[in-house]
Amino acid sequence: MNEKRKILKDFIVLEGLDGSGTTTQLKLLTEALLSHGSSVFSTCEPSPLPTGKIIRQVLEKEISVEAETLARMFSADRYEHLYGKSDGIIKHLKDGDVVITDRYLFSSLAYQSLGCDFDFVKQLNPYPLPEYLVYVDVTPETCRERMTGRELEELFDGDDIQMRIVSNYERGMAAFPESGMKLLRIDGHQGPDEICSEILAGIGR
Ligand code: TYD
Repeated sequence: MNEKRKILKDFIVLEGLDGSGTTTQLKLLTEALLSHGSSVFSTCEPSPLPTGKIIRQVLEKEISVEAETLARMFSADRYEHLYGKSDGIIKHLKDGDVVITDRYLFSSLAYQSLGCDFDFVKQLNPYPLPEYLVYVDVTPETCRERMTGRELEELFDGDDIQMRIVSNYERGMAAFPESGMKLLRIDGHQGPDEICSEILAGIGR
């Protein structure tokens, strides 16, 4: 069934494997848009809210929960991040900000589908879609090279897991055909400034 989801104009989502460089791009894009005179709300998921902080404890293996519980925690955090009345994404869009987030529901489709059914995760995330989904495409090998030396081993580390995440991302990006969401697939092996320029050109700014 082809469900219809609302598209949020001026909402930009960055997605990719851990080590793909989405956090660097969040920073560069925010600076570029600010310098063009746009007002920008730059954010991430798990969110910086209390709901997101509990998730970080799970990712860092300080606390352990069932895979389905974690999927629900990400969905709850996303609800708060979107609809929070004082500082939520929707509120910022209404105020005229461009909103950029490092990760959104496509991360849940990619990562939580490792331990849960894909359609279950999709149903848990009945949220609106961004105007632009930017997928920073890098091989798992590149991510591994970039992340060697990182101290903390997190929940989703490991080569075969990364390959499965890539294929779940592909499924997630194809899950909303004809929605009107624009998908920008960027080669993440380029330098950070080149990637940022390509994204800016892709979003017409
Ligand atoms: P990220 O902030 O990119 O990592 P870090 O702060 O460690 O550099 O993302 C944290 C992890 O959370 C990442 O491995 C992906 C995972 N994640 C999910 O599993 N599901 C989700 O819905 C989201 C938003 C993130």
